[in-house]
Amino acid sequence: MMSFVRYLLCNRKVFCICKSQCANALISSHGSHRRLFSTTSSRMTVMPAWVIDQYGGNDVLRFTKNASFPVINYPNEVIVKVFAAGLNPLDVSMRGGYGAATLSMKRDPLNIKQSGNEFPLILGRDVSGVIMECGLDVKYFTERDEVWAAIPPWKQGSLAEFVVLSANEVSHKPKTLSHTEAAAIPYVAATAWSALVNTGGLTKDNCAKKRILILGGSGGVGTFAIQMVKAWGAHVTVTCSQNAERFVKGLGADHVVDYTAGPVEEPLSALEKFDLILDNVGGDTERWALNLLKPWSGAKYITLVTPFLQNTDMLGIADGMMQTAATMTTKAVKHLMKGVHYRWGFFAPSGPALDEIREMVDAGQIRAVVEETFSFSQVPEAFEKLEKGHARGKTVVQISKPGDEL
Ligand SMILES: NC(=O)c1ccc[n+]([C@@H]2O[C@H](COP(=O)([O-])OP(=O)(O)OC[C@H]3O[C@@H](n4cnc5c(N)ncnc54)[C@H](OP(=O)(O)O)[C@@H]3O)[C@@H](O)[C@H]2O)c1
Repeated sequence: MMSFVRYLLCNRKVFCICKSQCANALISSHGSHRRLFSTTSSRMTVMPAWVIDQYGGNDVLRFTKNASFPVINYPNEVIVKVFAAGLNPLDVSMRGGYGAATLSMKRDPLNIKQSGNEFPLILGRDVSGVIMECGLDVKYFTERDEVWAAIPPWKQGSLAEFVVLSANEVSHKPKTLSHTEAAAIPYVAATAWSALVNTGGLTKDNCAKKRILILGGSGGVGTFAIQMVKAWGAHVTVTCSQNAERFVKGLGADHVVDYTAGPVEEPLSALEKFDLILDNVGGDTERWALNLLKPWSGAKYITLVTPFLQNTDMLGIADGMMQTAATMTTKAVKHLMKGVHYRWGFFAPSGPALDEIREMVDAGQIRAVVEETFSFSQVPEAFEKLEKGHARGKTVVQISKPGDEL
């Protein structure tokens, strides 16, 4: 229902001047549109942020008070004042240059700019905060709305005081969560939603009694996925290390298998077969996991661990994409002949999906799992923590707090 309301509002083309009541108005132009947007101060051309100027280890993280203030370039964009930022394993990988080839192409499709133009790069894929400014076509949000979003990896991230996003990527934040809690959910939720709903075909109406296996259930994506499919009535089996067993059971897992106790495929193959497997682990799981699916029944294996970005980093965009397509097709066809579906899952930014997830959160069906909270000055420590692995939820950085001047 929320998605339908959003669709109507987003698709109504209404021309008006900016609704902002902030003090100073600047003139900007995009294509043939001329518009007004506002800042709180004439000095607001820069902002504090953690940036990287090259790829590498934790030492490349640099705090600056002079990062470029984000600008609305398209009429459907909003500027969000960041209260809390969530970190994901992807941030550590991106700090080291993972995905640089594909993400650079996405930022600069015509390859007009010099190489390295992504720097200074701001990491951080989750945001919870308030809308500071709306583009001309934005009807679904207004200034000071409390929002949350998952930020696509090709955009500047949330380890900064402000971030610019498309309104389609943003959603009103759950009322029952603080900003710190809310920042733990969007990126893993959008990834799980894309994999389970868009790729896996699950809905709240077809999940009841389905048997779902989540490989690697104790991390960010797994903890969200368990709660989501449990809320929809599925039977959920999870693999994780033994010390995470109580934790995942507390999130609703019906059956837990400890992968540290020996080859996990043995206890799993003794169980009734599954309708869907979500693989957060990768590696050699593909060798045995598809045998655990019910054949010839539409059952699906969806892995989030794909070679796509690695291929384009190593082989370049064209060859990397061809290699990826060939691998994907070969595996899909091979498994289709055995009566099961093999799929890759990818993060997809989606405000409408977050609208639905907000309803589940506010209904008490999904809770935020924050493992540790860091202050804005502790971002390097937060990365160190993430790098050590063994997550039991999300790492969140508090950037500023409600009540701070907009
Ligand atoms: N394709 C995409 O667009 C996309 C988007 C997001 C994430 N991902 C990928 O999805 C995966 C999960 O992401 P995440 O954010 O949830 O990572 P995470 O928070 O690091 O969680 C991974 C979990 O896997 C568990 N684990 C490790 N080895 C295992 C094994 N052999 N069997 C079972 N569990 C194992 C770990 O649990 P223990 O501590 O109990 O060992 C850890 O909690 C990552 O590989 C990530 O790169 C892909």
